[in-house]
Amino acid sequence: MSILLLGKNGQVGWELQRALAPLGRLTALDRHGADGLCGDLADLEGLAATVRALRPEVIVNAAAHTAVDKAESEPDLAQRLNAEAPAVLAREAAALGATLVHYSTDYVFDGSGILPWREDAATGPLSVYGRSKLAGEQAIRASGCQHLIFRTSWVYAARGGNFARTMLRLGAERERLTVIDDQWGAPTGAELIADVTAHAIRHLRVQPQDAGTYHLAASGFTTWCAYAKHVLSFARTVSPSLALAVKEIAPVLTEAFPLPAPRPRNSRLDTQRLQATFGLMLPPWQQGVERMLAEIL
Ligand SMILES: NC(=O)c1ccc[n+]([C@@H]2O[C@H](COP(=O)([O-])OP(=O)(O)OC[C@H]3O[C@@H](n4cnc5c(N)ncnc54)[C@H](OP(=O)(O)O)[C@@H]3O)[C@@H](O)[C@H]2O)c1
Repeated sequence: MSILLLGKNGQVGWELQRALAPLGRLTALDRHGADGLCGDLADLEGLAATVRALRPEVIVNAAAHTAVDKAESEPDLAQRLNAEAPAVLAREAAALGATLVHYSTDYVFDGSGILPWREDAATGPLSVYGRSKLAGEQAIRASGCQHLIFRTSWVYAARGGNFARTMLRLGAERERLTVIDDQWGAPTGAELIADVTAHAIRHLRVQPQDAGTYHLAASGFTTWCAYAKHVLSFARTVSPSLALAVKEIAPVLTEAFPLPAPRPRNSRLDTQRLQATFGLMLPPWQQGVERMLAEIL
């Protein structure tokens, strides 16, 4: 199988380099491209030329405009990277008969209610980022190409900055932290997303009728505040010598941290469809977070 991976150095892209490698011949690009191939999502003609030159059987797009707050002030760029580029990839995939794997987000929902969102629930993005990601999904579906769209949430990886690292740093500096306690979701490891992607690509070779949109997140739900508490208490257990000053982690409402892009309060994703279709079990969110902490501490 020949695979083209875009966004190879992002959280998910990095783990995909590992998880996709055993599936076949992998060409992995970042925005700077390689060997005369364009990997820049902003260059729509260049992207199309890359697909035409490589003729991959599978295209995996892990690149995106993910700076949620910045997107509010650069909507055209967000639209280009999150909607127009996936549309080009989908058009080229359809022409080739290739499969397109793409990632989307809980931000396509308005965050109302307390029930986990199913794939067929009505969307209602609150932000430029959410609207651009939804437009990307819609373009892929409209193209008629065989596709897998995975909507995920609260992604973290051991590599680079993440929420847990920030809590560890703040926990070392301050005695009291205030953390948002009215947004609900599931912290989901890039490793898990990449591994599920590899399984799903293999599955689709024998069950092509299972292409479509799926929610992919770790099991269980939490708030940012409870997540922070879990990180710091696990850090104390696994690394007792760690100098942590923090004595109190106080819950606050979203309004305590005003940001340019509104966040959905309810980011719970119902993953039953993915688990049933691909015969997979999504582990509890704590499992991946603890593994990541054990790696970075
Ligand atoms: N992070 C989350 O919490 C979250 C939640 C739900 C869904 N998702 C979705 O999951 C997917 C993967 O996200 P992630 O967390 O792995 O994001 P990430 O770590 O921010 O990685 C995104 C990658 O896209 C690349 N990129 C940005 N502009 C580009 C361009 N013009 N051309 C080519 N590449 C470009 C970035 O490259 P540079 O490093 O060079 O900028 C980066 O490597 C995305 O589709 C995202 O929307 C993420």
